[in-house]
Amino acid sequence: MVDVAESQEDGFVALARELSALMARKEYGRIDVVRDESATLRFYLVRQWASTAMAQLCHADPEMQTLTTRLAQIARVTHLVNGVTGREAFQFDERRAYTKADRRIGLDRRMKDAGREEGERRTRGDRRVGHRRSREQSGQIDLVAAARRARENADARFSNFKVGAALQAADGSVISGCNIENATYGLTLCAERVAMFKALSDGHRAFTRIAIVADTETLTPPCGACRQILWEFGGNLEIVLANLKSEESKHMLKNLLPLPFDARLLS
Ligand code: THU
Repeated sequence: MVDVAESQEDGFVALARELSALMARKEYGRIDVVRDESATLRFYLVRQWASTAMAQLCHADPEMQTLTTRLAQIARVTHLVNGVTGREAFQFDERRAYTKADRRIGLDRRMKDAGREEGERRTRGDRRVGHRRSREQSGQIDLVAAARRARENADARFSNFKVGAALQAADGSVISGCNIENATYGLTLCAERVAMFKALSDGHRAFTRIAIVADTETLTPPCGACRQILWEFGGNLEIVLANLKSEESKHMLKNLLPLPFDARLLS
């Protein structure tokens, strides 16, 4: 599902044509673009690969990666559904090898910051003026807004403490989560872990940042268990904390989880 940023529709249609032409030219498969008649600026991109091998070649293709990066700059991509034409399906071993390779990328990537600065709070000069959208760079995904929407679905019947999270995958997809409580209390899942597990179960393996929103004066950081899970599966993510007053702070996960335990210690 693709939600195109305002005034970017023409750009999106042109880009979809380029994607489609590339898929056909390199015989990766096909891509169909379907407009959602009931939602302005919403489209569905339906990709079907010629084979699993072609799907892998396609993912590794720098030309394709450039196009998907451009897509992420003008649209929010969610609910990816991947299909392969014919009978071929991913084999278990293939999937495991794929996961391991991606995890290694995560471990290497977390050794360095993504070049972003870390600050407890925005400085005065940074404070937003006007509506949130006007502050966003054009076409940039509003991850905090996605986390705020996710928070609406929280089931916090015991604590009344609603939290929303929105995780951005490397391909620009946004996967959201909210906290879900239950009568035993202890089986409660935090918003961050719900988002991460949803993303993993949808096949995402590389991530760039996560936004976490709660209705608190002091911004709510992820709990220890979530820091561990985010680290193991997401690496050195950028963590954006926000409240309902639109106050924000940004952190790098490695600073929130010093001296981490992870798979490297098991080898
Ligand atoms: N919670 C989260 O979902 N994320 C956090 O970062 C902190 C805590 C949830 C768990 C529980 O449902 C409620 O907030 C109170 O702890």
